[in-house]
Amino acid sequence: MNKNHTEVLIIGGGVAGLSLSLRLAQSGIKVTLISKEELTEGSSLYAQGGIAAVLNKEDSFASHIEDTLTAGAGLCNRQTVGYIVENAPDAIDWLVDNGVEFTVIDGPEYDGADSKYHLTREGGHSHRRVIHAQDATGREVATTLENLVRAEPGITTLEHHIAIDLITAQKLGLASPDRAVGAYILDTKTSKVGVISAESLVLATGGASKSYLYTSNPDTSTGDGIAMAWRAGCRISNMEFVQFHPTCLYHPQAKSLLISEAVRGEGGRLLLPDGTRFMKQHHELGELAPRDIVARAIDYEMKLHGLDSVFLDISHKPKDFILEHFPNIYKNCMQYGFDICQEPVPVVPAAHYTCGGVVTDLQGRTDLTNLYCVGEASCTGLHGANRLASNSLLECLVMADASAKHISANCTKTKISPAIPEWDESRVTDPDERIVVAHNWDELRRFMWDYVGIVRTDKRLERAAHRIDLLKEEIRDYYSNFKVSSDLLELRNLVTVADLTVQCALNRRESRGLHYTLNYPKTKRIARDSVIVPTNYPAHANMVSWD
Ligand code: FAD
Ligand code: SIN
Repeated sequence: MNKNHTEVLIIGGGVAGLSLSLRLAQSGIKVTLISKEELTEGSSLYAQGGIAAVLNKEDSFASHIEDTLTAGAGLCNRQTVGYIVENAPDAIDWLVDNGVEFTVIDGPEYDGADSKYHLTREGGHSHRRVIHAQDATGREVATTLENLVRAEPGITTLEHHIAIDLITAQKLGLASPDRAVGAYILDTKTSKVGVISAESLVLATGGASKSYLYTSNPDTSTGDGIAMAWRAGCRISNMEFVQFHPTCLYHPQAKSLLISEAVRGEGGRLLLPDGTRFMKQHHELGELAPRDIVARAIDYEMKLHGLDSVFLDISHKPKDFILEHFPNIYKNCMQYGFDICQEPVPVVPAAHYTCGGVVTDLQGRTDLTNLYCVGEASCTGLHGANRLASNSLLECLVMADASAKHISANCTKTKISPAIPEWDESRVTDPDERIVVAHNWDELRRFMWDYVGIVRTDKRLERAAHRIDLLKEEIRDYYSNFKVSSDLLELRNLVTVADLTVQCALNRRESRGLHYTLNYPKTKRIARDSVIVPTNYPAHANMVSWD
């Protein structure tokens, strides 16, 4: 047996990885949970608006399902949507039972309130159905789960450990049907690479929005899980559907500062510099139109009027109301000199969410036996061509539960694992010019923003494809000659996800949901997923399916 063997190796300490670890440990399974920064650093920690769930009597599953399907522009899988929406109330109960404190209301603060929790409204939702912990829902959920994980003896946590690649039976040259058997992991504190073998492995590595220059995401969102699964032989789907959040603070020093959609849900207005509201000209739902429409409208108005930003204004609401609902957004904006109680704040769209990812079924299984994927890295069929606001944390929670059930039922506990060779560093040296990696990061993120952004054309996409080919070659050369570092590993993964995004975008000859191209502005009658199959797709693949 390999020295570092575990029953389940979970890569990623966001809400998907934390909740899955807990559920597995609570059913007696030994888990190793690795995270490339501090345990919970990732998008989950910064989630603001909340979690969508039907919790009010005047709301219904049918309505949540319909809103999700409408946002998804014909590409959601109905079965997945039904499953996740109908399991949402149980997922919220599980969080509450585990100590998560959501914002409560003393009396009905709005018409139709019969839940003890305050439910906010976000774009594309036809009811108030977003349960939240003030405006820092992610922090409340992630830190509560983190404390439980740290106290759980069945879970070993390894922070500052970055997974490099999955190890499969095929890579080891074994005759058995292909399956995932472990992963190579770089300890970023000691710069040593080790092996962890496992009965089952789970990718919970989050999205890939760091492939864009402007993003609401933290530095961890470099698409590592998607790139690792692709290299290991899994199919990847719908990568062209990159969600841009309409309202990030526009300020040279404010990196990734989101202003929640809940601000618009509670009455916030989008304005041009002269104070004119413009959203009604773009959609009947105005500021609460689905996110793709709001982001595109802002992009249009900025280009039309030659603006650096538009403005978001909630200052017409009483100060007490703003401070009660948005204390963190207030504080964060104040740091940059903007008082949201007094004035409109400048906002721009930024890359926010990766709707595509590793194809999984409703148990979180990928095409590779023993390999699961949950959370933003996966593509379950829930989001289709555009994710409905606050459906992401929900997907993390419901799919972690579904995967935990499948893993528990199938985890063999045989402790037999094939001998895995140590990481070979005999032919590499220390990097000669680290500037190459930094420069390539910057170049990639810039051309993705310029050529693969909110409005696309074939010409722009082809330009991006050409640059990606050059970068791939340079990185391949660098990777084979020099010792690995987290920057190099992330760059390699970013180029892979950028490549997959551009391939999917070039193949989609229509505009649908988040993919808008001037060459094909119409939406085709029949909706089809983009599915890319790797050349090493296993002959006996699980062939997971959404149906
Ligand atoms: P993450 O939370 O991103 O966690 C990924 C984890 O994987 C991290 O621990 C990271 O370090 C680790 N990791 C990655 N690669 C490796 C590797 N190679 N080796 C080891 N570890 C690795 N969604 C909602 O539903 N409601 C909201 O209100 C909401 N607000 C948001 C606000 C912001 C600012 C952002 C950025 C996103 C928001 N979202 C929201 C989206 C949502 O937060 C994410 O989609 C969700 O949290 C993803 O969770 P995850 O567990 O899949 O990934
Ligand atoms: C927000 O609070 O606006 C983000 C919600 C989401 O991304 O689902």
